[in-house]
Amino acid sequence: MKIAVIGKGGREQALVETLADSPEKPQLFSFPSSDAILQTAQPIPAHDLDELILWMKDHQIDLCVAGEESYLVKGEGLANRCAAVGIPCWGPPKESAQLEASKQFAKEFLMRHGIPTGRAVAVQDREAALKAIDSHYPTVLKFDGLAAGKGVAVCMNAEQAEDFLDEVFVAKRFGPGRLLVEEYLTGPEISIFAAVCDDRYLILCPARDYKRLKDGDEGPNTGGMGAVASRRLTDSETLHLIEKTIVAPTVAGLCADKLPYRGFLYFGLMLTPDGPKVIEYNCRFGDPECEAVMPLLRGDLAGFCLAGARGEFKPELISFEDGWSVCCIIASAGYPASSHSGDTIHGLQNCSARVFHCGTKRVGDSWQTAGGRVLAIVATGDTLDAARKSAHAEAAKIDFAGSQRRSDIAYRNV
Ligand code: AMP
Ligand code: GLY
Repeated sequence: MKIAVIGKGGREQALVETLADSPEKPQLFSFPSSDAILQTAQPIPAHDLDELILWMKDHQIDLCVAGEESYLVKGEGLANRCAAVGIPCWGPPKESAQLEASKQFAKEFLMRHGIPTGRAVAVQDREAALKAIDSHYPTVLKFDGLAAGKGVAVCMNAEQAEDFLDEVFVAKRFGPGRLLVEEYLTGPEISIFAAVCDDRYLILCPARDYKRLKDGDEGPNTGGMGAVASRRLTDSETLHLIEKTIVAPTVAGLCADKLPYRGFLYFGLMLTPDGPKVIEYNCRFGDPECEAVMPLLRGDLAGFCLAGARGEFKPELISFEDGWSVCCIIASAGYPASSHSGDTIHGLQNCSARVFHCGTKRVGDSWQTAGGRVLAIVATGDTLDAARKSAHAEAAKIDFAGSQRRSDIAYRNV
């Protein structure tokens, strides 16, 4: 079996390594890839989506697995292009990936199908935004497009709101686009993942990520500074409620709206005093949640994804271990406002945990930073305490100039 995995971060390395472990021992290929992924997969010599599709067709790729969201909505869409040449793709077509790419599309979908979520209004400019906020703080402002996890601002006061409005409408930091003004919700957050195959789904191991840069959930939002995953993260009553009020109606809604879906679907939820509510959908696995969840997966991920991409749902092929998994991210200097490349990473050889590379480059015998989030250090254990102690201890062995890491991952909000 030949599998191409699309993406280049820690999530894709975790997917590649888990797929490679499948009983059939598939051959793995990667685009656009990274030096770390190329330790397990072979490179696909393509420069863009056109070349990628041609290469996959010429090399008789059996399955394309979408890691990163951008390809799902770029051009005609990765899954759409795969379908056109008969390659099964684990990842939804462009029209369905709007659930992630457009916050307004997602909000209308949620409202249409009666799925619990915060109230929101879409606005086109600064004045309309201020009118919609109507001096009610805290408020939540969301840029209506892909912004690598950085297009959302939770504003506690007018000053913060005006700063973000300037970024969106004056500096146009995320490009052109609308803004959603959303009701501020409170409660613990949880990331729920489902593998969706048309009208069927399997809920995978839940996780929690830590989006703020600094300890105590302080500092700016990031792509994620760490994660904890376990089947025991939620009690069965809450999980049942999430399935009944959110997951099942979402899958039924996709079918009703004729939005085809085969792939991972990520529900970013808040467990509010009024029950679980959807904060966002993502049409792929979470990053860094994937790095935490994959080490708990048992069975045949390659067989599961291949069958699913062909429309055959085979939940019996995978399961999740009972223990805990903790992922600590080490980010580069300046992240998330900027990032620093070319710093030599020390201590990797002393680290006995799993290490997934989010943004690194191999230079001779050493590894250097090459991005905002640099490394994901992951440890598993039978207990939460064993997993988190080990993840933090192993992450502490790694060092580079200006490295940033949270020390409360899996200690706070579990
Ligand atoms: P998102 O990119 O939509 O996941 O938002 C990033 C983060 O902003 C979330 O993980 C939440 O912590 C926070 N957030 C988003 N929407 C809301 C909301 N309606 N109320 C409170 N916090 C929110
Ligand atoms: N961990 C957040 C995300 O993947 O969007």
